[in-house]
Amino acid sequence: MVGVHRSAIYRATATAQVNAMEARIIEEPVSCLPECGRLPIAFRVDWVLDVIPIDEGLGGLSLKERPVDSPYIKDFDEIEGNAPMCWAAQWDLSNWSVLSFLVGGYRVGGAVLAFDTEGVDMLERRKDLAILWDIRVHPDHRRHGVGRSLFRAAEAWAGARGCQQIKVETQNINVAACHFYAKQGCSLGMINRYAYRDFPEETQIIWYKQLL
Ligand SMILES: CC(C)(COP(=O)(O)OP(=O)(O)OC[C@H]1O[C@@H](n2cnc3c(N)ncnc32)[C@H](O)[C@@H]1OP(=O)(O)O)[C@@H](O)C(=O)NCCC(=O)NCCS
Repeated sequence: MVGVHRSAIYRATATAQVNAMEARIIEEPVSCLPECGRLPIAFRVDWVLDVIPIDEGLGGLSLKERPVDSPYIKDFDEIEGNAPMCWAAQWDLSNWSVLSFLVGGYRVGGAVLAFDTEGVDMLERRKDLAILWDIRVHPDHRRHGVGRSLFRAAEAWAGARGCQQIKVETQNINVAACHFYAKQGCSLGMINRYAYRDFPEETQIIWYKQLL
């Protein structure tokens, strides 16, 4: 778990009790990103979603879960330039924000939101779209509703900025995240099998959550 040393700007959402300790979500400035990056984002890949063209693609693409022969750990933070501490050097984060889920004063989960930022292609030059840029829950606290609470807070954050949708990117090797986004009411927006030149075996999956 990661301790929080900075003060909150405001309380975003009250959340459920976790292990009988006080739990809450606060909004923090992006200056806390290096600290947020100490929360692991890594996950174990036991299953993948195979992307299967139907009728040579004329019938669309089908996603089918398959166990992998040799499970492995995927850690996005290990990819050069990908870790939270690297983002400020790449983009103007003025319109970005961090929502931190605290249990007993310790950060156990976090969500980073991006909005109206030059050069972020994912934003599609839209001012009514926010990106859930990053969401991560400490492995000891996964599957206890922390992610769901953060997603709700992200919706409130985006709604307060007049956004109609939240967009989020994941991959076919992150089956847990796909189930998570589907459970949050997201719709599958895009499947791009050719998005990652450095990881050709991975498929990009984009989800949208309609807010209004
Ligand atoms: C994805 C992640 C943020 C979800 O957070 P979480 O706190 O574990 O999720 P929640 O407990 O709020 O789960 C809400 C719902 O999502 C679905 N879900 C979450 N994890 C799941 C999993 N491993 N398998 C299947 N469904 C899952 C379930 O429907 C769950 O509801 P339920 O527990 O009542 O069945 C978390 O697993 C994580 O940090 N993963 C590593 C980082 C990562 O992959 N981030 C996303 C990058 S795109």
